[in-house]
Amino acid sequence: MDAKPAPMPKLLYGTAWKKDATAELVILALKTGFRGIDTAAQPRHYREDLVGAGVKKVISLGIVKRADLFVQTKFTSVDGQDQKHLPYDLNASLEEQVHSSVASSLNNFRYSESDEPYIDNLVLHSPLRTLSDTFSVWKALETYVPHRIRQLGISNTPLEVVDFLNTSPDITVRPACVQNRFYPSTGWEVDLRGYCREKGITFQAFWTLSGNPRLLTSRSVHELAASANVEPPVALYALVLGLEGISILDGTNNEAHMKADLNDINTVSEYAQSDEGQHVWSNCLHNFKKQIGEKQ
Ligand SMILES: NC(=O)c1ccc[n+]([C@@H]2O[C@H](COP(=O)([O-])OP(=O)(O)OC[C@H]3O[C@@H](n4cnc5c(N)ncnc54)[C@H](OP(=O)(O)O)[C@@H]3O)[C@@H](O)[C@H]2O)c1
Repeated sequence: MDAKPAPMPKLLYGTAWKKDATAELVILALKTGFRGIDTAAQPRHYREDLVGAGVKKVISLGIVKRADLFVQTKFTSVDGQDQKHLPYDLNASLEEQVHSSVASSLNNFRYSESDEPYIDNLVLHSPLRTLSDTFSVWKALETYVPHRIRQLGISNTPLEVVDFLNTSPDITVRPACVQNRFYPSTGWEVDLRGYCREKGITFQAFWTLSGNPRLLTSRSVHELAASANVEPPVALYALVLGLEGISILDGTNNEAHMKADLNDINTVSEYAQSDEGQHVWSNCLHNFKKQIGEKQ
């Protein structure tokens, strides 16, 4: 068996808060062209079972092969869960909670009787209260890599925890991604993203649109949008991707936005390489970086 993850797409379809519409929206997103899906074993915000059902449907229709999909879910500790609706026993040990949660996720991503289910990326939803508990959870997750889980990541995390996971001699599986908010209150994570870029860890951005009303109306976004003939949200996505080492979580419920996001980031990329667009692109990217305090 090839135990490599599918490549992580630049845009991952985010599935939080879609409730009963989750399967239908996942099917639409995959039909429209998304090849990465983000969910979580956290029933409070995600219907991982319906994400699995949507993916299964699209595979069964022959629209996409499992091997061409990047499926990502999360382990969420008790602190992030609705305690009445958990994918594990509230009173079990941390390691047992990880094993139950992963078993439940794998079950949600079982597509056929004959194929063993696997997850491309399992993200620890946030560090636990102590580094020692974070370490225990990570070690339990490591036991599934690479066969049932291809790679691991961590979310809602400070740089110190990423550095610990990335350098501790007692850690075998290094983080492949960090999933954090991309917004002004963390200074757009300039330092953490710099660290990730240097170490080859992908930064997955969320709140890219909802957390950045000022960027959405900024000059660099509007100039790029007008020149490349795309909408401002796509221009913002393109500039964020221009920071490099980034994937974006896109949770749109709107088919027109799905199409625009997938197609028009390529439109911007072609424009940026054209004779006409090169200068505008590098100017807008320069100003965008300046605005968020990125080292140039
Ligand atoms: N790790 C964590 O703790 C965590 C926390 C939050 C979210 N997430 C993940 O991130 C995903 C995205 O959530 P988010 O909060 O980051 O969402 P977001 O991208 O900040 O906001 C999406 C909102 O922007 C609107 N929008 C307008 N134009 C759009 C366009 N062209 N493309 C896309 N959206 C457009 C959408 O409305 P329409 O639906 O009308 O397009 C939607 O209301 C979630 O589904 C989840 O998978 C993870």
